[in-house]
Amino acid sequence: MSRIFSGIQPTGELHLGNYLGALRNWVSLQHKHECIYCVVDLHAITALHNPKQLEKNTLEVTAGLIASGLDPEKNIIFNQSTVSAHAELAWVFNCVSRLGWLNRMTQFKEKAGENSERASAGLYVYPNLMAADILLYKATHVPVGDDQKQHLELARDIAQKFNIDYKTELFPLPEPLIFGEATRVMSLRSGLKKMSKSDPSENSRINMTDGSDEIKKKIKKATSDSGLLPGRPEELVGRPEASNLLGIFAALSDKTLESVCQEFEGKQFSVFKSALVDIAIAVLAPIGDEMARLLKNHEYLKSVLRDGSNRANDIALPILEDVYEAVGFLKT
Ligand code: TRP
Repeated sequence: MSRIFSGIQPTGELHLGNYLGALRNWVSLQHKHECIYCVVDLHAITALHNPKQLEKNTLEVTAGLIASGLDPEKNIIFNQSTVSAHAELAWVFNCVSRLGWLNRMTQFKEKAGENSERASAGLYVYPNLMAADILLYKATHVPVGDDQKQHLELARDIAQKFNIDYKTELFPLPEPLIFGEATRVMSLRSGLKKMSKSDPSENSRINMTDGSDEIKKKIKKATSDSGLLPGRPEELVGRPEASNLLGIFAALSDKTLESVCQEFEGKQFSVFKSALVDIAIAVLAPIGDEMARLLKNHEYLKSVLRDGSNRANDIALPILEDVYEAVGFLKT
């Protein structure tokens, strides 16, 4: 049996990168698989944050998931802190995972920066918590972007070491699910930087709540280059902005990069950008509108999360019990 698990952090506004890299893929999985999607608020406190903002972001991400097309009845949608087994399994995994493994995590090095002495201990053990998220449900497949592949590898290492150390076959080794075009959306200001909520320039990203005018303005302003559009993907080498914008078009229109290149061969950016504006508005504006509508009803959003939390707990608790038994915790 396959079971999908993935997580998204409630830090900052959702943007096109989240949509194309994660949400829309999650939506496509819901018809064929059992899926558990988690708003990972425990992860969101590994860096300094504003508590009120965290609450708001949790609701916004929940609205974003539903507005993108996830059916809250078919899928389990919940926020991590309401299922305490995540934190409990993470503790066990803190004792299974090795310092040597964590020291190799490139994302910690990037996020901690120069001053790693001042990073939180939580940021350091964050990959152990992520492993707990996945294995708590014995998830078999995990849709992840490039930046999370190393963490998924670590989850497999933890699962394997746990199984060996405790002579059990409790945990399956989770597999990554990688998706096609534009899973990695770059900044609209620079084709070499990832589109990110922490970029100080608002023009670097399209937020999912942006209206048509904003979407248009940002795409028109997006950095391009002085060439004409190429006829083949191979000719995009060394043209990161062209590559990014064409990739976004391909993803939004569900076409291959190849066919998009053919379509716009020899055209100027101004012509292509107009087409990109149209498709971006057609796809994103209805989602933004639906998010705004859902965000007016906090009670509904909370009820979705509450229901998801109950269903997640029902799966997680027996698995946590098996873990506790395997490690030798006395039941009283
Ligand atoms: N670490 C992921 C991110 O920052 C979010 C995440 C947390 C996750 N737990 C997960 C993703 C489990 C996949 C599976 O994007």
